[in-house]
Amino acid sequence: MRDFQEATSTDAVIERLTECRDPRLRQVMAAATRHLHAFVREVRPSTEEWLAAIDYLTRTGQMCSGVRQEWVLFSDVMGVSSLVDVVNNPTDERVTESTVLGPFHVAGAPALPHGANISRDGRGRPCVVTGRVLDAAGAPIEGAMLDVWQTSEDGWYDVQQPGIQPEGNLRGKFATDADGRFWFVTVKPASYPVPTDGPVGELLRKLERHPFRPAHIHFIISAPGFASKTTHIFAEDDPYLDSDAVFGVKTSLIEVFHEVADPAAAAGYGVTAPFWSVSHEFRLAGQRATEAAAA
Ligand code: BEZ
Ligand code: FE
Repeated sequence: MRDFQEATSTDAVIERLTECRDPRLRQVMAAATRHLHAFVREVRPSTEEWLAAIDYLTRTGQMCSGVRQEWVLFSDVMGVSSLVDVVNNPTDERVTESTVLGPFHVAGAPALPHGANISRDGRGRPCVVTGRVLDAAGAPIEGAMLDVWQTSEDGWYDVQQPGIQPEGNLRGKFATDADGRFWFVTVKPASYPVPTDGPVGELLRKLERHPFRPAHIHFIISAPGFASKTTHIFAEDDPYLDSDAVFGVKTSLIEVFHEVADPAAAAGYGVTAPFWSVSHEFRLAGQRATEAAAA
């Protein structure tokens, strides 16, 4: 093939895929070629603009390290992480909706008894989180494990504030009882900006987009025989619910954090009044329901 032209460029590159024996890779690279070439035909970047784009991509890669994934953040703010999540977890009103994992999950949080307080520094007004884990038909799941993590009341994860927050602050794992119930004590999370000190922050500023995520508590819920679920609950009073920087909000995951002043209610949970209280019911698909949804 010679004389590469605008009209024939896509076919010329796709033709080179015929020797590739991996059918999925062929499919992916043909689609990537079609979309990239269509992008260039539509945008018609100047040579300087294309070099600036390459420089941006280079700096994004260079920002990545063992503790920083700027490419994932780029995917997040472009809505690609949430689109991949939606494509792989189509809505089924019988089960809890999923949302993004984010970069702040730490494996190996300790399993704690019901009612444990995950605020290791004791800062902030207590927040009692209660709920149940049920199957798609509404029956309780005993022994489901909830892996929980969240920010402080100031909007920081422990891993962002070493030396300020204790390691493992606001993280823990809780197993459901025979009635599918769990409860723990924490603080009310706050909205916070995604990291803005790299190329993604630069992009958001140029686009005049704010970097905030609405306040949320992260959960990964797993139980033998059920599809595990990565999700959040969001605070209903948060100003960023309609403009989450990473497009992760689902209406079904929004809950009211109630302010409770009653000292007797506080004593029942072993906290002091006033305290926050929030509750959510999670529903997991069993393996059979997952297979049915995929069929
Ligand atoms: C998070 O919720 O922890 C998160 C998700 C995507 C990007 C940054 C943070
Ligand atoms: Fe988060």
